[in-house]
Amino acid sequence: PLPVILDGDPGLDDAVAWLLALGSPEDLRVLGVTTVHGNVSLDRTTRNAGVTLALAGAAADGVGVYVGADRPLVRPALTAAAVHGESGLPAGGLPDPAREPEAAHAVDFIIRTVRAMPGEVTLIPTGPLTNVALALRLAPDIAPLIREIVWMGGSTAQGNRTPAAEFNALADPHAAHVVFGSGVPLRMVGLNVTMQAVAGPDRIAALRALGTRAGAACAELLTFYADVYRRRYGLDGGALHDPLAVAAAIRPELLDWQAMPVSVETTEGLNVGRTVCDLYGVTGQTPNAQVAVGVRDAEFFDLLLARVGRLP
Ligand code: BDR
Ligand code: CA
Repeated sequence: PLPVILDGDPGLDDAVAWLLALGSPEDLRVLGVTTVHGNVSLDRTTRNAGVTLALAGAAADGVGVYVGADRPLVRPALTAAAVHGESGLPAGGLPDPAREPEAAHAVDFIIRTVRAMPGEVTLIPTGPLTNVALALRLAPDIAPLIREIVWMGGSTAQGNRTPAAEFNALADPHAAHVVFGSGVPLRMVGLNVTMQAVAGPDRIAALRALGTRAGAACAELLTFYADVYRRRYGLDGGALHDPLAVAAAIRPELLDWQAMPVSVETTEGLNVGRTVCDLYGVTGQTPNAQVAVGVRDAEFFDLLLARVGRLP
């Protein structure tokens, strides 16, 4: 199995993504989870990380929670409580956090782990890229040692937080700029594909029908989320952004990929946070990312359902 670090801001789709990862031991070995500011404040994303591990039961044994950056590198913090609820995990009856967070900082954990397993570790960030950028700046020697970064964020087309910017990119565009300039092999799973992976009533019912605590929690979280997406985006359910990034690490062939140069706009203005994707190669620059441009959504959801279905 691929050794991975899950870095994110749970956040309800982050939580579903981490359950997919923890339910996939034949494909992924979760070395630890690291938390970052984002959908809600850092203390809440950290608590939610512990709750998510508790939902995974024994599958999360030995998986530590490492607390990361509480704000972006430069811009003021942005949250998304309107999408994820004030707590970040809007469901009743969730378990208490499985464990206290570890003493080590998330950035130190990432650096130490990558150095200990050169060439092996894949990072799966599903939030703002602050922790990953800090690790690359504090320890530039790790850049050639990271196997791959599979990031949910950005978009080849429109944004969701502004017309130009996707939330994770906008929530720390300077960090995204560092990561896209790092030379680390990078896959970008952006809105252009994740908005096609929608959990509507049938999928929510299938999760509930698993008859498990994890399935019931996913169903309840995605019910809240579906209402938000109906109102805000006119979709029949919530977009499974972060789970699609985990699925991309498990089975890259579930998506179509195109190598291209991607730059992140950091200048304040209409386009701040935009991932500028050179789909046609008009800049002549060398590609720095594999960008997802298509998704086999039905197969993706089958994988999600099967893997979450293994959890208690
Ligand atoms: C991303 O923003 C967050 O609200 C979600 O968790 C996801 O990571 C989608 O734009
Ligand atoms: Ca997220």
